[in-house]
Amino acid sequence: MALFAPKRRPHHGPMHREDFAKLPRHVAIIMDGNGRWAKKHKLAVAMGHRQGVEALREIIRHTDDLGIEALSLYAFSTENWNRSAEEVAALMALILEFFASEIDELDAKNVRILILGEKSRLPDKQREALVRAEERTGKNTGLRLNIAINYGGRAELVRAARELALLAQSGSLDPARITERTVADHLYTRGQPDVDLLIRTSGEMRLSNFLLYQCAYAEFVFPPVLWPDFTVRDYDQALQVFGGRQRRFGGRT
Ligand code: IPE
Ligand code: IPE
Ligand code: MG
Repeated sequence: MALFAPKRRPHHGPMHREDFAKLPRHVAIIMDGNGRWAKKHKLAVAMGHRQGVEALREIIRHTDDLGIEALSLYAFSTENWNRSAEEVAALMALILEFFASEIDELDAKNVRILILGEKSRLPDKQREALVRAEERTGKNTGLRLNIAINYGGRAELVRAARELALLAQSGSLDPARITERTVADHLYTRGQPDVDLLIRTSGEMRLSNFLLYQCAYAEFVFPPVLWPDFTVRDYDQALQVFGGRQRRFGGRT
């Protein structure tokens, strides 16, 4: 019998929950670098996005296997409308494809899907597919999978401000009783823990308007790989980096 069981598996397979000293409750990922990946491979940008979806499937599965509570994915920002009509159309088509191909497995795995962002600006088909996915999985109790589509952190805060102002105006909310919790309860992510770990691939080191309120005390990890090349191993590595971080939340421990 081995006296010292190795803590980490020496092989290169995916890690397991017990391999980590601590895991984040909520992981957010800015999946960046599809365009550069396509360019590097001399392919159309749409192919980069397609390859990005392939990478995504594995990452969602692994998040679920690890028993992480919530995963938030940045799929399309409020600023991404500024791209060419062709690229926007390719992304919209991929969104439909993704839900069509994944929804059965996700539902079977008890994953609860929530869309972060304003659905009203999306084409009918996409909006309907997103609403259907939310409704179908709404009562599931497993991984909370948040997909940000036409999402902007500022837009989310503006929306919360409007909702709170309306409640105050109607007399059902006393402005003096608005707390941080009240604000959090009017964000798309209401009821979920704050983001513990934010991963952005491709070497860019910025938030690009993602989950501004929820990331107040998130740990940031910036793997240099382009999103389509991001593997479960890279993910495990980012999770290990998180495990080694000392979080202080302003205190002195
Ligand atoms: C991220 O990849 C995916 C979306 C924004 C939808 P990009 O398309 O931003 O890739 P780069 O930054 O151009 O390489
Ligand atoms: C952020 O990436 C949005 C998504 C990954 C969906 P961008 O590539 O759009 O961000 P910027 O423009 O480099 O900041
Ligand atoms: Mg980018």
